[in-house]
Amino acid sequence: MIKKIKGFTDIFPPLVDKYLFMEKTAREVFSLYGFEEIRIPILEKTELFARSIGDATDVVQKEMFSFSDKKGRMLSLRPEATAGVVRAYIENKIYKNKSLSKFFTIGPMFRYERPQKGRQRQFHQINVETFGSDSPYVDVEIIEMLWTFLKELNISGISLEINSLGCIKCRPVFLKGLKEFLRQIDTKELCEDCRVRREKNPLRVLDCKSKNCQKIYKDSPIILDYLCDECKTHFDKVLDIVGGLDIEFRINKKLVRGLDYYQRTTFEVVAKGIGAQSAIAGGGRYDGLVKELGGPDVPGIGFACGMERIAQLMEISSDKGIDFYIAPMDPRALDMGFWVMNTLRSRNFKCICTFETKSVKSHLRGANKCGAHYCVLIGGDEYLKDVVTLKDLINGKQITIAKDKLREIDFSRSDIWSRN
Ligand code: HAM
Repeated sequence: MIKKIKGFTDIFPPLVDKYLFMEKTAREVFSLYGFEEIRIPILEKTELFARSIGDATDVVQKEMFSFSDKKGRMLSLRPEATAGVVRAYIENKIYKNKSLSKFFTIGPMFRYERPQKGRQRQFHQINVETFGSDSPYVDVEIIEMLWTFLKELNISGISLEINSLGCIKCRPVFLKGLKEFLRQIDTKELCEDCRVRREKNPLRVLDCKSKNCQKIYKDSPIILDYLCDECKTHFDKVLDIVGGLDIEFRINKKLVRGLDYYQRTTFEVVAKGIGAQSAIAGGGRYDGLVKELGGPDVPGIGFACGMERIAQLMEISSDKGIDFYIAPMDPRALDMGFWVMNTLRSRNFKCICTFETKSVKSHLRGANKCGAHYCVLIGGDEYLKDVVTLKDLINGKQITIAKDKLREIDFSRSDIWSRN
């Protein structure tokens, strides 16, 4: 037997209903905020991710599914959607039509991480991007949209963590201070990852998961102390507006995110009770990215929700019940069963038929198993008289009626059962 790839999953009902509900809710909520859905490729040139997410990040260094195609070009399965959306925005010159563009996209992402609960190698994101405004109101508008979306899914026990990562002017000054601080730490005291990060991507040491490292970084420099006047004014305004909303939030001074394109506002929504992988959504501003990838100097901000992690928090009862189970009991009844099924479907009833001629007992067992409301039994007798036996599997009542009656009978009327 060929098994699926490690870290990849098959999603069957009833779990798939949660995904459908999430997607439907996202479409409804986001359209209220003027967002339009787009579809972009799953495969892109590796260079796109290296240049946007950052060469030194874990995502690019260790986590991409990359390979060369038949012509030797390096391609990667997308580890996230922002890079692709930005590329599509530039390549299609969307900036020419509108000053403000708002897009969302839903689909699978791929990261070669160590699989565990809430962390898979193929996972799904609902991803949102806004281009064309650097207003702090836009930052809070999308945070508020994310919050509304999660509330519409009936998710509780969540909180927003927010930080500012400064800009290309003030962050280098902070990084200098941070590197100096890190240089004084004895290498032996750091975890293996931080030994590398200290050299290659010092910002990332701050959100190291090791308790020991966190103790060491307790008194490290904090980016908020280094913000330039513009970044400070921007962040203060964001906090001021978020504070006026009904959103539970805290400033997380060590929130640095794993992707290099962020500037200024960054945020995550974390949930209690789903284990170590508690970030159900994350995002932030990436004002230099469009320019970096060859477009005009257009600011951008967005977020992505992890659908697998949100699914863990959702409780929806799936109503997948079948209305009619068609039960032919005689080979001569098969044509009639097929007609009955099509007739009921044309009236918008959900119907199934196995097209096996079986006994009443085994048909009823099958009908109950799939949660059918009614069973339409058609045996040799019914076939000869052009009638069907209709059984209500909920109240146990049964009638025999002319087959043609199925075109119009009102099944919700209780008096139909007394006609027999
Ligand atoms: P991210 O924080 O890397 O951000 O991912 C967003 C969310 O995707 C995470 O909060 C998590 O819920 C989910 N996620 C990430 N990796 C996995 C995994 N291996 N298994 C399951 N779920 C996972 C981004 O991807 C940015 N592109 C978000 C963004 C959009 N920033 C601006 N615009």
